[in-house]
Amino acid sequence: MDMTPIISAKGLVKRFGKTTAVDGLSLEMYEGEVFGLLGPNGAGKTTTLRMLITLLQPDEGEIVVGGFRVREDAERVRGLIGYIPQERAVDRALTGREHLALFADLYHLPKAEGLGRAAWALEMVGLADRADEVVMNYSGGMKKRLEIACGLIHRPKILFLDEPTLGLDVESRTLIWRHIRELKAEGMTMVMSTNYLDEADQLCDRLAIIDEGKLAALGTPRQLKESLQGDVLSLTPEGADGAGLERLEIALKGLEGVVQIARRDGSLELRVEPSRTIVTRALDVMNGQGIRLEAIQYTRPSLEKVFIHYTGHQIKDDWV
Ligand SMILES: Nc1ncnc2c1ncn2[C@@H]1O[C@H](COP(=O)(O)OP(=O)(O)OP(=O)(O)O)[C@@H](O)[C@H]1O
Ligand SMILES: [Mg+2]
Repeated sequence: MDMTPIISAKGLVKRFGKTTAVDGLSLEMYEGEVFGLLGPNGAGKTTTLRMLITLLQPDEGEIVVGGFRVREDAERVRGLIGYIPQERAVDRALTGREHLALFADLYHLPKAEGLGRAAWALEMVGLADRADEVVMNYSGGMKKRLEIACGLIHRPKILFLDEPTLGLDVESRTLIWRHIRELKAEGMTMVMSTNYLDEADQLCDRLAIIDEGKLAALGTPRQLKESLQGDVLSLTPEGADGAGLERLEIALKGLEGVVQIARRDGSLELRVEPSRTIVTRALDVMNGQGIRLEAIQYTRPSLEKVFIHYTGHQIKDDWV
């Protein structure tokens, strides 16, 4: 992967009156990745995105997108990017295709080219067969997909998506995830915000956990989970007596990467360092002692645990 960032933001600060919405945030995004901003309501995700896409001036800090400084070269930055806002007022009386024609005009595309791209974008989000119906008749998921098509019309190099699946049903979410994966496969760089843990986990190559306008943690979902050092391998030997369990425990303690062992009823719970080989090595030890396995379980901390670990609270308030 090319390690020159396609987006670089340094020391971003944005205040609204007494509220500091973004509080000294520095981030880099790489070409071709899906980068996620994960945080609860009010964390500063939308504010950050709006600064990255030139819609909002930071009070402090510097942003470079595709080699252009956002402050000086906003026009050129806009030529590179597409934006799918958290909420857009789609005109309910227009058809899907008319909507896209409007956006093509907005981007000053020649008429024929605009029509061609509208057809491509509608195809891309699976709305080709509903393109000539008024948006009023669309479901929530279809409206969101139309918004994505609007953000794609000028084939941006970088696409910004603010909460792309907020409030959608499972089927619509799955469809939108598929579109995002297809766009990634075509080489598009995407920056998205979300407060859905599963979305962040499944879709994003790297995540920035944002809390109260600050960066709480950064990494791939896997790195973040591994960083908690909380992987647990639980082994239940078949019919082992106390002495057998003790012998097994002593042997397993000697394995590299085993941090701690606890006995729970007839099982051994091993806290282990993340490693590709620990399970097979532990099984080898058991086999060596002629002990058979009744059950085995391997658990790694969830992204939810990661979130709580780095922010000290859950992503959703209790009342949500
Ligand atoms: N235009 C504005 N004027 C005043 N305060 C604002 C404005 N925009 C955002 N804020 C405040 O800044 C903070 C961050 O808001 P922001 O919309 O960036 O959060 P978010 O992470 O996108 O939240 P959500 O998940 O609810 O979309 C909030 O306290 C919000 O009330
Ligand atoms: Mg928001």
